[in-house]
Amino acid sequence: MTYPSSRLLNMRERLAPALWQLLTQAAQEAQERGWHLYLVGGAVRDVLLADESQPLLLEDVDLVVDGFHRAADVGAGVTLAKALRERYPNARLDVHGAFQTAALLWHNDPVLDSLWIDIATARTEFYPYPAANPEVEASSIRQDLYRRDFTINAMAARLTGRRGEALPLLDFFGGMLDLRSRQIRVLHANSFIEDPTRIYRAVRFAVRLGFELEPQTQDYIQYALESGVYERSLGANTRAPALETRLKAELKYILEAPYWQRAFQLIGSLGALRCLHPSLKLDPLLWWRVRLIDRWLRRFDPDQTLKHWQMRLEVLIAHLEPQERGKVAENLQLPIDSIERLQHLGQAQTEVVESLPQCQRPSEVVLLLRQYKLPTLVLIAVHSYRAIRRKLWHYFTNLATVQAPLNGNDLKRLGYKPGPHYKEMLDALLTATLDGVIQDEADAQAFLEQHYPRST
Ligand code: CTP
Repeated sequence: MTYPSSRLLNMRERLAPALWQLLTQAAQEAQERGWHLYLVGGAVRDVLLADESQPLLLEDVDLVVDGFHRAADVGAGVTLAKALRERYPNARLDVHGAFQTAALLWHNDPVLDSLWIDIATARTEFYPYPAANPEVEASSIRQDLYRRDFTINAMAARLTGRRGEALPLLDFFGGMLDLRSRQIRVLHANSFIEDPTRIYRAVRFAVRLGFELEPQTQDYIQYALESGVYERSLGANTRAPALETRLKAELKYILEAPYWQRAFQLIGSLGALRCLHPSLKLDPLLWWRVRLIDRWLRRFDPDQTLKHWQMRLEVLIAHLEPQERGKVAENLQLPIDSIERLQHLGQAQTEVVESLPQCQRPSEVVLLLRQYKLPTLVLIAVHSYRAIRRKLWHYFTNLATVQAPLNGNDLKRLGYKPGPHYKEMLDALLTATLDGVIQDEADAQAFLEQHYPRST
């Protein structure tokens, strides 16, 4: 085989010794069976990009075994993973039969930490219909790399048959050049038609690495978006469930990253929210809402008890017509509480917007708003006009945390017989506290004596 690049990678110095040892053992196991073994994808990209003075932390490692096209080698990746598992009994082995891949996972291992190694058999993917699940057939490493997303992710370093420490780099598609000129470039025109998640991946890599989307790649994105293929697959329900899972995973990755605002803007300027729903666009109102909900969440959920990335996604979905929201949330397999929240948001919004201006006393505000949970209220806030937003802000900052000076235990201590009437008494105390009728414990006791004489 001739190599398209004469470049050699000196990996040994770059990787943690334990990982290097593991890769060496994996290469031996492969070689004994007459196979080649390659390090591929993100690990090669990250080694080439990394600052040599800093230790490189690799947590996800992708390996590919090239079985030289023999039918008996279709499961080579799985065989190799099993052989390695014998040497590393601490690892968990997961085999994904349909894709001929296996994963070895370590969890808080003293040496390998939380390493995750995927081992696949060299393969090419063909798509029976666009945007469907890839099917797999045995093939060579070049084809395996050709099916990948971007040139910078389509390089491999050969671990077997090397001389010395350096690994030969396989760069068939100009990945090195694109790394140097900081370009995200797809390998072929149909890449985005086959896999819409790649649009989001292109954005993610561009923003994370500070790269540009190469102009032709941008054209391919436009072509895929305008071809209507995603809309058709949405409408006809021909999307494989795995596609929705991967779309959600990419959205999560982007929406929880520190660079989410820049990535989101780029997605918007490409018009790529259409992958979620044909009418979804990043207009100025939506952009304002996603940033606003972020401010509310930072203020009222500083400990992140809610998933902030998911709330950002909910704002996107809530930008759709009310009857469309639940369907999109279901397609993306959001959790059930999130789906229900989006389904009922329109109704909750109407109730709050109509009733809140009628509330005169603070207790009325609390009585109305405490029926709703924080995520619903922040969604309502970013979809409401200013006067409603102000009242909601006031509720969170001044009213929601107010407590009456006495609780149930205090009632018992004061000699009130426990029973269902406690709730009424405690509510009355809270109402009086909120409305300024009582200020302290003495006021509260006097209030109780007046309204709930001990015999009750
Ligand atoms: N890949 C692809 N198309 C996708 C997803 C993944 O071609 N839709 C390929 C790419 O070659 C990628 C590799 O699979 O490098 C591994 O995918 P993943 O772990 O998601 O990406 P990484 O490149 O490792 O990126 P990250 O560092 O963000 O994990």
